[in-house]
Amino acid sequence: MANISGKSFGSDNHAGVHPAVMAAIIAANDGDARAYGDDDVTRTALTRLCELSGAHSAHLVFTGTAANILGLSLMVRPFEAVICADSSHLNVDECGAAERVLGCKLLSVPTPDGKLSPRLVASKLTGRGDEHRVQPRVIQLAQATELGTCYSLDELRELRAFGHEHGLLIYLDGARIANAAAYLGCSLADIAACADVLSFGGTKNGALGVEAVLVMNERLADGAQYHRKQQMQLASKMRFLGAQAVALLQDGLWLSAASHANEMAARLGGALAGLPGVRLSYPVQSNGVFTTLDGRVALKLEQDFNVHVWSRNDDGTCVVRWMTAFDTSAEDIDRLTASVEASLFHVKPQP
Ligand SMILES: Cc1ncc(COP(=O)(O)O)c(C=O)c1O
Repeated sequence: MANISGKSFGSDNHAGVHPAVMAAIIAANDGDARAYGDDDVTRTALTRLCELSGAHSAHLVFTGTAANILGLSLMVRPFEAVICADSSHLNVDECGAAERVLGCKLLSVPTPDGKLSPRLVASKLTGRGDEHRVQPRVIQLAQATELGTCYSLDELRELRAFGHEHGLLIYLDGARIANAAAYLGCSLADIAACADVLSFGGTKNGALGVEAVLVMNERLADGAQYHRKQQMQLASKMRFLGAQAVALLQDGLWLSAASHANEMAARLGGALAGLPGVRLSYPVQSNGVFTTLDGRVALKLEQDFNVHVWSRNDDGTCVVRWMTAFDTSAEDIDRLTASVEASLFHVKPQP
């Protein structure tokens, strides 16, 4: 498989591994250590994750999908349902993992910007107490959302209060929680306190492949380690996952890497929005930039720049997603903007 030439804006997953994370993996590769998390590096990672977030317990897994499924498996029974945004990764991009592994129904709701609100959640609360209907049990939020937007802390607190008032738990998909914390200028604990269970993403923020499930609500912690094993996420050489988490938490790297990616996204958003026929689809509040433009132009950009056409609108326009990462530079963005401008020049927009 060929490498992508030049800096890619197609996904934060296209970025390599942060040198500090790679160095930590290499440092952990020193002699033997006990397996399955019974080692000092993993213990340090879990202690620091709990200290930083206020979690009761933390569990490392390989992928964001696995984190979501493990987290939700602590919260729902098969006759219960998860309310989520229709644009959520859980609903769109996890190949029905929740339906298969948890055996429960997702109640997805269209949203204007990837964010749920108490009003939108309430629209899915009919049929409670009716034995013929699934019973909503969890509100699933992504922070940052899949559309690059962020909930404010007030919005999260309002959803939590609404949820708890209606017997609903909060699961927060934090694949990009670092970008959200950087955008809001808040701590991990501030966001985590709004959830019963959440994930803390590492992979999109410079790790090779590690995510953590953080259990805030002690009553849900029981059995997490067994769910993880059944879900095939108990790494035998766990120290290498632990090492990545320790590196990200060291000296606030998780936050500085995400802040940098956000700054680059803001720069990119400003530059793209200045091009003819291009407008921002959503405010830039993390490391994702979404632009609305003519459909033919969008296809050309997809071809030329390895970016995703995210969605198609009825009026012939498309939404194109651009992502930045911990290692995107200002020069990368300036180069990209100049090439995009040249590319746009060669496509005649549809009348
Ligand atoms: C919001 C969100 N959650 C979860 C994931 C899942 O990550 P993975 O691909 O590691 O399973 C992604 C990946 O794109 C994501 O964007």
